[in-house]
Amino acid sequence: MTTLHNRQNFAFASDNYSGIHPIIMEAIINANGGHETAYGDDVYSHRLNALIKTNFGNTATAYPVFNGTGANIIALSALTPRHGAVICTTNAHIHNDESNAPAYVAGLRLLTVKTPDGKLSPSDIANICHRIGDPHAPQPTTVYISQATELGTCYTLQEIDDIVKTAKSFGLSVYVDGARLANACAYLGCTFADIAKTGVDILSLGGTKNGMMMGECLVVLNPAFDNIMPFLRKNHLQLSSKHRFISAQFVAWLNDELWQKLATHANDMAQYLYNQIKDLPNIIITQKVQSNAVFAILPPHVVARLHEDFHFYDWNGETGEVRLMMSFDTTKEQVNALIDKIKLYLTQS
Ligand SMILES: Cc1ncc(COP(=O)(O)O)c(C=O)c1O
Repeated sequence: MTTLHNRQNFAFASDNYSGIHPIIMEAIINANGGHETAYGDDVYSHRLNALIKTNFGNTATAYPVFNGTGANIIALSALTPRHGAVICTTNAHIHNDESNAPAYVAGLRLLTVKTPDGKLSPSDIANICHRIGDPHAPQPTTVYISQATELGTCYTLQEIDDIVKTAKSFGLSVYVDGARLANACAYLGCTFADIAKTGVDILSLGGTKNGMMMGECLVVLNPAFDNIMPFLRKNHLQLSSKHRFISAQFVAWLNDELWQKLATHANDMAQYLYNQIKDLPNIIITQKVQSNAVFAILPPHVVARLHEDFHFYDWNGETGEVRLMMSFDTTKEQVNALIDKIKLYLTQS
């Protein structure tokens, strides 16, 4: 078998660019061989369900899926009736980065709120709820937040608590897109159970961006939405026949807090980069560094030169803001290589 890519390549584009942690790879290999029941009724999926209860609380149920977009669409479909609408920020992944899937696949209407840091506040929710009861208006029924957010920021537990309280006071349910929940929990120094205790109804637990080959796990915390979930997962094309290979990854990822070690490392690399560049001239750090990404405005010539050296995303073409993202396998040497180039290009024009 020929390796087609350069194994020495590294990038700051996305945690999706990284490979698979060796422990996860081993878990996939160990789950291989012989026959085992398909479609999620296998021993690995049952073990995962037990582990999800241990990590999130006894009422939690696990529904592993292929990807984050699928997880979002399934959860929001479960929480949002035909007349309902989903409150989210303009930066939300479901608004910006999932093509028309929310509207086309699930018929979801999104009510967006512009926020400077990717975080929704209780007053944002309250403001949008003023037409509840008016049959002419889309009815807010669901709140979508992501933890960590698309801008790398994190809600505190108190902030999630306040969002849930406000949402419930209007009769709304709450979904947490946890594509980077591991990074957020590592940053907050909290457990998954702490997030569950805030009273959110459903969340997704992201594995792909934190060392897994692929897989996210929907965690249904409010049993009222549990019965419908197996059907929605199948309807939305997210029930894998060889489910055991997604579940086995999660079992390894939850074991010995591997998730926490990998997320802490990625976060530490982002903090390191931030500390090394924050006081350099002509650099503006645009968001608090609370997970594994650094958002910064750099002079245009620096951005242009850096693109010749590394993969990373331009976040805002107008302001010159870029996103520099760390992964579980980003090394300090790699971050130093980036820092050295930034410093070099800043001295040139
Ligand atoms: C916050 C968030 N949610 C969901 C997703 C979707 O994940 P996927 O690309 O696996 O569909 C992403 C992917 O980048 C994400 O950043």
